[in-house]
Amino acid sequence: MQASFLYDVLIIGSGAAGLSAALCLNKDISIAVISKASLSSGSTPWAQGGIAAVLSEEDDVESHIKDTLNAGAGLCHKDAVRQTAENGRNSIEWLIQQGVDFTKNNETDAQDDYHLTKEGGHSHRRVVHADDATGLAISSALCDQALAATNIDIHENRVAIDLITHKKLFLPGNRCVGAYVLNREDNHVELFRARFVIIATGGASKAYLYTSNPDGASGDGIAMAWRSGCRVGNMEFNQFHPTCLYHPQAKSFLITEAVRGEGGHLLLPNGERFMHRFDDRKELAPRDIVARAIDHEMKRIGADHLLLDISHKTADFVKSHFPTIYETCLGFGIDITKQPIPIVPAAHYTCGGIMVDHRGRSDINQLYAVGEASFTGLHGANRMASNSLLECVVYGQEAAKDINRKINQIPPPPEAPVWDESQVTDSDEDVVIAHNWDELRRFMWDYVGIVRTNKRLQRAKHRVDLLHQEILDYYSNYSVTNDLLELRNLVTVADLIICSAIQRKESRGLHFTLDYPEAFEMASDTILTPTNYSTRDW
Ligand code: FAD
Ligand code: SIN
Repeated sequence: MQASFLYDVLIIGSGAAGLSAALCLNKDISIAVISKASLSSGSTPWAQGGIAAVLSEEDDVESHIKDTLNAGAGLCHKDAVRQTAENGRNSIEWLIQQGVDFTKNNETDAQDDYHLTKEGGHSHRRVVHADDATGLAISSALCDQALAATNIDIHENRVAIDLITHKKLFLPGNRCVGAYVLNREDNHVELFRARFVIIATGGASKAYLYTSNPDGASGDGIAMAWRSGCRVGNMEFNQFHPTCLYHPQAKSFLITEAVRGEGGHLLLPNGERFMHRFDDRKELAPRDIVARAIDHEMKRIGADHLLLDISHKTADFVKSHFPTIYETCLGFGIDITKQPIPIVPAAHYTCGGIMVDHRGRSDINQLYAVGEASFTGLHGANRMASNSLLECVVYGQEAAKDINRKINQIPPPPEAPVWDESQVTDSDEDVVIAHNWDELRRFMWDYVGIVRTNKRLQRAKHRVDLLHQEILDYYSNYSVTNDLLELRNLVTVADLIICSAIQRKESRGLHFTLDYPEAFEMASDTILTPTNYSTRDW
């Protein structure tokens, strides 16, 4: 007997975006939050540097807007930037009310005198943080609140497979009414029906071999929304973080940009600084410029990594500002108070995503998307550091407010059939999944990475089309597992990235191609529509 649930709101994803929405919905609304791993999974707990907001007297919202627009290289939507920047202070105050303990200038000070750090692209100290583990502080506080809320049911280890829409039920109208969800504990597929569905599934950086993201960042929400008929925007803009720890045993450990914000220097292996040759802002240029400069220098001298050095600061300063990084690097035998840190760039953030409006509403009625899975227009061609956690809170809240206003006008969802498992068997060749995961992530890294060319993109398109077919066959014949579902979504998202990159015949922000090194005078978004799309819609 398959389990079936009925709620007012189904939220897929329990990161900063999903939980901000959950906690801002009215208390008489019944909510299911599902997470494909634990409640605290996703990128949110890994965020280090902080969250951008205008809190200093010397700073102002217009300056936050200007810096975001500059970093976004002409593609930011001004209304989205203004909405986000103007809500910065409120969002921080709300997070503090939820229990987030941000670092103060003087810990004994009762006043709200928060320490603000600096990161690339910001013209002021504007990044409020909880030491160098900001995401963990935010995630812990929001998870505690969600667990305590009587109207929120948490379903962990549940992987959303596909959305249920009126179209799929052969009903008139364009409405989302729930999702099929794999229960990883008993391997059965459950039915979740709801009046409203919010996708908050995070980004897709696992499409690349090297990434700062934790497992699970496989673009599930983007792929699900696409399969259901939503447009996606600007998928070619994958942000590569310039500084991930380079160490054989360190899996995806980030060295926050705040290290450069607090005076860290990027060095060649011979100890020479080089960023001045690429940008007047040196180490604090926007991320696309720094990552490209590192990539260029590594290729020029044939190095497998470069260095980031903060050891010229006092040991006390380093340990108090970056306790997590200090301890983690020490665990790998690197004392950052005495020696430089080996670093490489890695895929970090998905700037594009499901197209939404200023309230997080997608192309399908009653379906919202918030956080990294969405494309609000805030980040343009390159996200400015620490703007994404802010976006999660602002749009999570906006989506909740919109649902609060409408909840009484929307009828309960219709009945939907349970998942049909009668035609499939358990696979005895999981090696196909493991092999295709590796292959996909490697060619995305080699052909669709920091520097692109027409030829490389065409090669990637050819490979992704073959994988698409192979995985479709596999998906049609075997029972679903988390690995298979993630691979299926990654292939779709990789295809969307490649197709978007092929469409952009210029270099702008994070999309750099040797075939078109200049930017057009007029900037425009790359918008893909499922119905006009050549590949299979599955
Ligand atoms: P996530 O936090 O990624 O959460 C996604 C949720 O969706 C998880 O609960 C996951 O289990 C669930 N999920 C996914 N797919 C499914 C599915 N199919 N079914 C059910 N559940 C699903 N940003 C900043 O602003 N400042 C920073 O300092 C910063 N530092 C960062 C450092 C690192 C190492 C990383 C990786 C990112 C950093 N970012 C930072 C980016 C920021 O952390 C993310 O953009 C943000 O946390 C995304 O939040 P989210 O709620 O959209 O998604
Ligand atoms: C970092 O701390 O460098 C990450 C900041 C971000 O991705 O916004």
